Amino acid sequence: MRTFQDSLATYGKFIPYAAIGLVTLLFMRKTFRRGHSVLRRKHLAKGKTILITGANSGIGLAAAIEFAKQDGRVILACRNREKAKKTVYAVRNETNKGTLVMKHLDLESQSSVKALAEDLLNTEEKIDIQVNNAGVMGLPYALTEDGVERTFATNHLGHFILTNMILELLKKSKEARIIVVSSMLYKRGMINLSDINNEKAFSSQDAYSSSKLANIMFANVLSKKLEGTSVAVNSLSPGFVRTNLSRNGLGDSWLKSLLYQTVGHFLMRSPKHGAETVVYCALDPSLKGVSGKFFRDCKEKDLLPHALDSAVSARLWDACVDFSKDIKT
Ligand SMILES: NC(=O)c1ccc[n+]([C@@H]2O[C@H](COP(=O)([O-])OP(=O)(O)OC[C@H]3O[C@@H](n4cnc5c(N)ncnc54)[C@H](OP(=O)(O)O)[C@@H]3O)[C@@H](O)[C@H]2O)c1
Repeated sequence: MRTFQDSLATYGKFIPYAAIGLVTLLFMRKTFRRGHSVLRRKHLAKGKTILITGANSGIGLAAAIEFAKQDGRVILACRNREKAKKTVYAVRNETNKGTLVMKHLDLESQSSVKALAEDLLNTEEKIDIQVNNAGVMGLPYALTEDGVERTFATNHLGHFILTNMILELLKKSKEARIIVVSSMLYKRGMINLSDINNEKAFSSQDAYSSSKLANIMFANVLSKKLEGTSVAVNSLSPGFVRTNLSRNGLGDSWLKSLLYQTVGHFLMRSPKHGAETVVYCALDPSLKGVSGKFFRDCKEKDLLPHALDSAVSARLWDACVDFSKDIKT
């Protein structure tokens, strides 16, 4: 049997060539990657009001910069006012174009979500694009002030309430788009209708995956409800992106956290690259009227059957209405 030393003696001479090849590939990827053509267009957001949640970090910040560059009026909905001010500087550092409006939003708190919705209903004439982007991962089990598990409340329920409350503003746009930022981890998600708060067996990873599955089901149900209106709804995965999402760790496994922080960071795409599919779904003229689809890498992708289960999706919707007390859908 060949030992490790034998293999090293045979193949070791190739290691420097492999290393040079890898470095060259990474250099070429960074140098020649020009991004999707939507990023090279100008003024696609002119005249449009774009609401984006979680705009102070990662994918949300990168998307907000692009929307401003494309001359949009961007409403940055952030939970931390200090970070939101820094976001305005960060966007202005990149571009002088567009208009920026700061709004407070804590998706964990239904009263904060409803306050933002009412503020928008009182102050905006219309919203053309809504990006449900904010998200958390790796939180330990805890309930919000409204008695909802925090990951589900932030990633799904808060956006469910906000979107339903401001739908009339989206309907006032000639061509409105709602974009729901999900993840390929939806594949591992499961909607346990008898235990949405995960009270029986909590795992932070499962809570994240299930909230991302819930995002997709929400987009699909809403797109059906909005058939015949001017509002399209699509969901997407931004890919594996270098952001602050893992700030709480990955939950249950220290080994996974370590690999994520080391090897993972090397393989991840930049926030700007991660925001590309968001910007594509929000602005690309070719997607006019396209609704109820899922995208990754600026291409439509098929979903696994469990994400298309219309009976579970409808029951999840009803459960969210119950959780949100007094909203109408
Ligand atoms: N990064 C990836 O590889 C990846 C992959 C698939 C999907 N995604 C999805 O991409 C989206 C953006 O995540 P990201 O990677 O850009 O992570 P990020 O850098 O951590 O950004 C998350 C944003 O959500 C905000 N947020 C968190 N809790 C909130 C709350 N209760 N109310 C309002 N805003 C809140 C954060 O605000 P604070 O700064 O105040 O915390 C931050 O602005 C998420 O939906 C995530 O699930 C990311």
